[in-house]
Amino acid sequence: MNNSAKFIVFEGIDGAGKSTQIRLLAEALEKRGIKTSQSAEPTSYPSGRAIRDVLAGRVTVSSDELAVMFAADRANHNTNPDGGINCLLESGITAISDRYYYSSMAYQGVQIGLERVMQLNLENPDIRRPDLCIFLDLEPRQSLDRIESRHESTEIFETYEYLDKTRKTFFNVIDTMIARGENIVCIDASRSVDDIASDVLDAALKLWDC
Ligand code: ADP
Ligand code: TYD
Repeated sequence: MNNSAKFIVFEGIDGAGKSTQIRLLAEALEKRGIKTSQSAEPTSYPSGRAIRDVLAGRVTVSSDELAVMFAADRANHNTNPDGGINCLLESGITAISDRYYYSSMAYQGVQIGLERVMQLNLENPDIRRPDLCIFLDLEPRQSLDRIESRHESTEIFETYEYLDKTRKTFFNVIDTMIARGENIVCIDASRSVDDIASDVLDAALKLWDC
C-alpha cells in the first residue's frame, strides 16, 4: 500500500454525523497501518477561540469580518508549527479535519456571496487544497433532532431555515468546486452509522489506490 499522508476533510450541516464518522474513519485507517490525526475548524488555537466567541454571541462582528476570521484560522490550521496540517503531512500523518473552506463557502457564502469567500480562501497560499472532501448529506429536520439529543447549547447557525439554506448552498458549492477539479464525495448521512462508515472508508481508501 502507498502509505503517503493525505489531507481529508469532512463537511455537512451541524449534526450530520461528521465527528462520529471522523472517529470511525481514523480507527479504520489506523487498523490498516495509516497514521492519522484529527482536528476541527474553528481550531482550538487562539484564532479559533475568537471565532467561538462570535458563534456563541459573546462578541459581535460583521459577516465579512467573520469570513476573514475563518480564513485566518484556516491558514493558521495549515501552518501552525504546533500540530498544523503541513507539519502532520510532512511527518507522514494523514490529517482529517472536521470542516474546511467548503463550510465558509456555504455558511459565509449565504451572507456575503460565494465569490468573496472563494477569494479569501482559494487565493490564500497558506490554505491548501484537500485530497478528499467527504460531504455528509442530511436533511435539516433530522440534523436538528440529532443536535437536540446531544443536549448542547444552540449556536447562532442552528435553526431549520438557516440549516436548510446552508445545505442548499453546500450543493451549489460542491458543484462549483467539482467543476474546479476538486475531489468531493457526497454520502447519504440519513442511514445507519455503520452503512455510512463503510461508504466513507471506501471513498478514503481510493486515495491509496486500494
Ligand atoms: P456533527 O459532528 O456533524 O455535528 P455528530 O457526529 O456529533 O455530528 O452527530 C450528531 C449526533 O447524532 C450525535 O449525538 C451522534 O451520536 C448522532 N449520530 C451520528 N450519526 C448518526 C446516525 N447515522 N444515525 C443516528 N444518529 C447519529
Ligand atoms: P461546531 O460546534 O464545530 O459545529 P459542528 O459540530 O456541527 O461542526 O461549530 C462550528 C460552526 O461554525 C458551524 O455552525 C459551522 C460554522 N462554520 C462557519 O460558519 N464557517 C466556517 O468556515 C466553519 C469552519 C464553520
